[in-house]
Amino acid sequence: MNTTEPRLIAATLAEGGLAALFTAPDGARAFAVRWQGGVYGYLNQCPHAGGPLDFEGQVLESSGRFLMCARHGAIFEPDTGKCVGGPCRGARLTPAAVHEKADGSVWAGATD
Ligand code: FES
Repeated sequence: MNTTEPRLIAATLAEGGLAALFTAPDGARAFAVRWQGGVYGYLNQCPHAGGPLDFEGQVLESSGRFLMCARHGAIFEPDTGKCVGGPCRGARLTPAAVHEKADGSVWAGATD
């Protein structure tokens, strides 16, 4: 199997909904989330203590403005991955390449 070939993450990804969890081509855990119409992907690894951000796929905090780590509450800008509050303020999530096709499906990897 060609691991660089784009792989389907989700047929749809709802605005403000649960993240789609997936495995990046290098085997790292990652997630994709839709925020303000765009789709963003990051490794599911918090810069604070390295744990996964999500709780059962939930990565957006209740206001929908930020990603939030379920472990100790660090919050991140969804479009940049920058930590803007909490124990790792100023650090960044590591991007994971994702792209969306015209039908709304979300795929791992760079645009094909
Ligand atoms: S592991 Fe994410 S805030 Fe501590």
